Amino acid sequence: MRPTDPPRTYRVKSFGCQMNVYDGERMAELLGAQGMTAAGEGDKADLVVLNTCHIREKATEKVYSDIGRIVKDWDRDDGSSPMIAVAGCVAQAEGEEIMARAPSVKVVVGPQAYHRLPEMVAEAAAGRRATETDMPAEAKFAALPRRRKTGPSAFLTIQEGCDKFCTYCVVPYTRGAELSRPFADLVDEARLLVEGGAREITLLGQNVNAWAGEDAKGRAVGLAGLAEALAGLADLKRIRYTTSHPADMDEALIAAHGTNAKLMPFLHLPVQAGSDRVLKAMNRSHTADGYLKLLERFRAARPDIALSGDFIVGFPGETDAEFEDTLRLIDAVGYAQAFSFKYSARPGTPAASMDGQVPASVMDERLQRLQAALGRDQLAFNKASVGKTCEVLVERKGKHPGQWLGKSPWLQSVHFTGEAAIGDLVLVELVEAGPNSLSARLAPRDQA
Ligand code: SAH
Ligand code: SF4
Ligand code: F3S
Repeated sequence: MRPTDPPRTYRVKSFGCQMNVYDGERMAELLGAQGMTAAGEGDKADLVVLNTCHIREKATEKVYSDIGRIVKDWDRDDGSSPMIAVAGCVAQAEGEEIMARAPSVKVVVGPQAYHRLPEMVAEAAAGRRATETDMPAEAKFAALPRRRKTGPSAFLTIQEGCDKFCTYCVVPYTRGAELSRPFADLVDEARLLVEGGAREITLLGQNVNAWAGEDAKGRAVGLAGLAEALAGLADLKRIRYTTSHPADMDEALIAAHGTNAKLMPFLHLPVQAGSDRVLKAMNRSHTADGYLKLLERFRAARPDIALSGDFIVGFPGETDAEFEDTLRLIDAVGYAQAFSFKYSARPGTPAASMDGQVPASVMDERLQRLQAALGRDQLAFNKASVGKTCEVLVERKGKHPGQWLGKSPWLQSVHFTGEAAIGDLVLVELVEAGPNSLSARLAPRDQA
């Protein structure tokens, strides 16, 4: 391919959160609709879309090293060069800087503008570098092609953006204000996903439980109402949602965990820290105790619910004693899994200029202790599952002949050997637990 030839093959590489994974799938569909084909594994693509994440400094640095690697690996001796497009949250936050620093980048497109990717690629092929970082997300979804075939577990973005402005976080700046997609569009897209093979749908949003809309009868509904409507799709067997914010929880969603049988017993509810002073400085709008009380209500509605969270260690000013509060909160909850991060100062966020930035060595030590506690609880949760009979949604083949991999209702990875196919919901007995997965054997159907 010469620089002026329109690209024929593409590769989309997504980093960061599940919403970026969803966006990456939609970009691939857009390029496919233009007649481009996905580059095979190991093949060099004419167009590489880097769908980037800005959340921590490391994530951002990765973009520049990836650009360097793509250019270096392009060893066609016809004088051509690869076309690189940078999409996602780094594009939104640092688009101009990327254009200035990386001449091989021909397209910069923000997360709310990627429906324009095909025309921007065409412009770039005609020799004009193209940038689009406008924020009107409304236009985007309407302009995307219809969904096609998917795997058994699919993502569906229902809500975008964030109005919470936690003092450490870039998302309100990279994704813009909170916006809910319309109810009818979501039911339509879910139906297409199910027709395309999805048996499980994970509803996505930066604040997914802030989703609000009007149902077919014009009644105001929240996430619980949407999940109820989706449960009406016969071939859809499981509904999940992520990520929730404690401030947007309502009684209807809590109750739905007890009444909507397709809503899986799993809740990812980030807390970030266990000290009320730190939570306040983070602008989290909840206390540690308020968070724990919320979890109690979920457990009352669905006693077997598995809990997950996000944590940041070393927020500016965090003392040893305040860090201990986080460990105490972890002990009180007993998480089934969790994500934890060292605080990363992000340009333009209020926390970046706060006093008391914590030294890296202290953050390292805190993260290690935190992860030890979380790892201990995750293993304990998995071990407590041994002996249970449950359904597993088969997602792919395992490494060994006849082996299958899938997920339990509690989002644990489960492997088993036997008669099954991708997309099946099979009944298994969990027989052995490790820190990150469980082994199982097929259970006779009449045990259900
Ligand atoms: N909207 C979601 C997820 C946001 S990003 C929420 O509010 O929970 C995912 C996680 O990244 C956050 O929950 C937080 O734990 C972490 N994170 C965000 N900004 C960070 C920063 N500057 N440094 C370290 N971790 C960060
Ligand atoms: Fe970031 Fe806070 Fe919004 Fe989550 S709620 S995206 S952590 S600002
Ligand atoms: Fe990263 Fe943007 Fe998601 S910053 S975590 S890709 S919303």
